[in-house]
Amino acid sequence: MPGMPSIDQPNAGAATALSPAEAVDRDPRPDVVAVTLVAEPVVRELEPGRTVHLSGYSGNVPGPLIRAKPGDLVEVHLDNHLTEPTTLHFHGVRVPNAMDGVPDMTQPAVLPGQSFDYSFVVPDAGLYWYHPHYDSVAELGSGLYGPILVADPSDPPGLGDEVVLVLSDLGVDQNGQPLPPASTPDGIVSGSEGSVVLVNGLVHPRLDVAVGRRLRLRVLNAARSRYFKLGIAGQSFTVIGGDGGRFSAPLTVTEPVVTPGERLDLLVTPSGAEGSTLELVARPVSRGVPLPESAEAPLVGLELVANASSASPPLPSLERAITPLDTSVASEVPIALTLNADETEVVMGIDGVPGSQAEPVHAQVGATQILVVTNMTPYNHPFHLHGFFFEPRREDGSPLLPLERKDTIDVPPVSRVKLAVTYDDRPGMWMFHCHILDHAEAGMMGMLHVMH
Ligand code: C2O
Ligand code: CU
Repeated sequence: MPGMPSIDQPNAGAATALSPAEAVDRDPRPDVVAVTLVAEPVVRELEPGRTVHLSGYSGNVPGPLIRAKPGDLVEVHLDNHLTEPTTLHFHGVRVPNAMDGVPDMTQPAVLPGQSFDYSFVVPDAGLYWYHPHYDSVAELGSGLYGPILVADPSDPPGLGDEVVLVLSDLGVDQNGQPLPPASTPDGIVSGSEGSVVLVNGLVHPRLDVAVGRRLRLRVLNAARSRYFKLGIAGQSFTVIGGDGGRFSAPLTVTEPVVTPGERLDLLVTPSGAEGSTLELVARPVSRGVPLPESAEAPLVGLELVANASSASPPLPSLERAITPLDTSVASEVPIALTLNADETEVVMGIDGVPGSQAEPVHAQVGATQILVVTNMTPYNHPFHLHGFFFEPRREDGSPLLPLERKDTIDVPPVSRVKLAVTYDDRPGMWMFHCHILDHAEAGMMGMLHVMH
């Protein structure tokens, strides 16, 4: 498989079956990645005898993995073969505003039968993703999402056998058609969760892993609303990175949570008896909403096989030099996530009004702000900012450790987070919103105007 580092060899066969399809780079130049994504209906046999009618990119759910390295020019030719308009948003990538994929804001929606050419440099290593920003609850819910992996040239060798895991879920009716998004006030407040949990578009796939060999799991939560709390009985994870590449230092976590839109870079060394199976599971997680407490859901069966090669080398040092943003003259900008609901109507919003009616946040190119995002509701909201990374801060304004670059962060009920952002020279109107997409579409989506 192209691009598979040789360290993957012992597990390559198994990882290949589970791994997402890879996008074909049509451009021979080493620093240009040119791919075509055809948004189209996809028919899948989810389980024997269970056919579902999804949408995907070029026949795949998730869409094919786009591989690049920092500084590459990525060109994506989108063909819309759906019956609905669509766009592509490159979640987390610091693209120019015109490439951000927001219909009627940064581009017209791409109508059925039409195409659009996206082109941008990927400046930063990390796991990113693409998805529509048109009718996103329905379109992501039907299967439209795909990963972008920008490899970090400074990753030390021997980190582990790398597998990209795109987590999502799916709700379908008896005919295998995607269920329409929630429409009742309760349903919107809860957010659309499908009952079928998918890993790389598969139901409970298996992966052969060698006893004592480290795995590097690049995890993306592409679900519309579902939070995933990951666990493997008796094991803990070394979390080495998140949305915007590696942390300043690794963390040990037993049950890492990945909220919609977020990514995690996890190391785990499966241990146990040869021939046994370890389950990577999603444990019950509460986000405050009136959904029945979900049971534990199996994600991937890790089948322990004999260690074909030597065990993994000891974990190399994983410090990354990240300079905290200078916030000495930064102004604080309040953003409140609000909810007004009765039996018939629910208005999610920014500062008490639907985001489209809220005054945009204004910012200057070159300036640094601290966004103070206050959740006034009894529910969790994953807050996502387009176009720029933020650095999570403590209540006193000092950087949260380890340092990291993020674009999506959970804001627990009735609490606030402080996010430092420096606006590099990409002026324009950028969105910020809850990545529970029912909430975004119900009004929890505001604008940030970056000007010279
Ligand atoms: Cu992944 Cu505007 O979102
Ligand atoms: Cu929300």
